Amino acid sequence: MLTRIEPADLGLQEAAELIRRGDLVAFPTETVYGLGADAGNASAIEKIYQVKERPANNPLIVHVPDVAAAQSYSYGFSPLAVAFAQAFWPGPLTLVLPRNDRICPAVSAGKTTVAIRCPSNPVAQELLRAAGRPIAAPSANRSGHTSPTTAQHVYDELAGRIALILDGGACGVGLESTVVDVTGTSPAILRPGAVTQAMLARCLAAAGFSTPVAVLTRHAGNSTNEPLDSPGQLESHYAPRTAAYRFYASDLRRLNAYLPTMRNQRIGMLCLESFAAPAGLAKILVLPAAEQACARALYGALRELDTAGCDVLLIQCPENSVGVWAAIEDRLRRATKELP
Ligand code: TXA
Ligand code: MG
Repeated sequence: MLTRIEPADLGLQEAAELIRRGDLVAFPTETVYGLGADAGNASAIEKIYQVKERPANNPLIVHVPDVAAAQSYSYGFSPLAVAFAQAFWPGPLTLVLPRNDRICPAVSAGKTTVAIRCPSNPVAQELLRAAGRPIAAPSANRSGHTSPTTAQHVYDELAGRIALILDGGACGVGLESTVVDVTGTSPAILRPGAVTQAMLARCLAAAGFSTPVAVLTRHAGNSTNEPLDSPGQLESHYAPRTAAYRFYASDLRRLNAYLPTMRNQRIGMLCLESFAAPAGLAKILVLPAAEQACARALYGALRELDTAGCDVLLIQCPENSVGVWAAIEDRLRRATKELP
């Protein structure tokens, strides 16, 4: 299949038509590029799982143009859900809600809940309105790999597998949306993102709720035996193809022991501005010091390192798990392994 990248304004009507007839389209959102299909069409949803090679137990996010549309695909919008939707939509927040039968079960991978998001990106908004359908869209990468934040990244992932990529420029946020389960009496963050725990807590306090905001993100190897709320969260994810190991500036023992064993290898490093990288590395990329700029640059930097011909990548994770740094650390941890 020939894959075309079209400027968003020129390709929009064709993209809407493709969605309506059950085909796939990649499109920009403010977080990352999505691979969209009609959320009410089971065979279109099946194509998403095939093209991404995504495990069937990992549910998709449904994109809608506004709160009213979201309410029409859920059995219940709790007061908590209303407060969050009013405060953060359109924007990089996904709400997990009870699913109704207007959304096909495959979208939810058989769960009784559905994840819904109202994106703020104008191209995403126009596409939703032109298609007139709820659009299920995972990040437009092959399963497990780094999410795309430009049309070219999508092309590099999915060329030959989809017909059309709408080009809306680079994504402003650069990390996937915050996923919050609002089916219970208190909310739980299943995936951290640009809408932070503190922002959610402030919203609840302002709306008169006294419930805390739990964080339930789990990493492989965590000791919890709780059931898996968000299957996409457990596997290794967001990973470059080159072997990638993480390190923290507060614990350099392993890094310092590892480097001498790699003397004849090409090593690439992704580090934070404050870190003094060791000499002799093949390539070094430095991330911006400000959290939002860092998030925006992150996936492009991972891709650049991944294609630099290195034997191994060493990736610094931020220690600071406050605000957007929590999301950056979460992604980098899943993208990397512990140093051997
Ligand atoms: O920013 C984003 O959310 C992007 C753009 C395209 O909107 N989409 C995205 O989709 O990141 P995806 O499929 O890569 O990640 C969806 C996440 C997964 O971790 C999945 O397990 C979780 O949302 N999820 C989806 N439906 C869920 C549900 N019903 N219950 C719990 N978690 C759910
Ligand atoms: Mg993804």
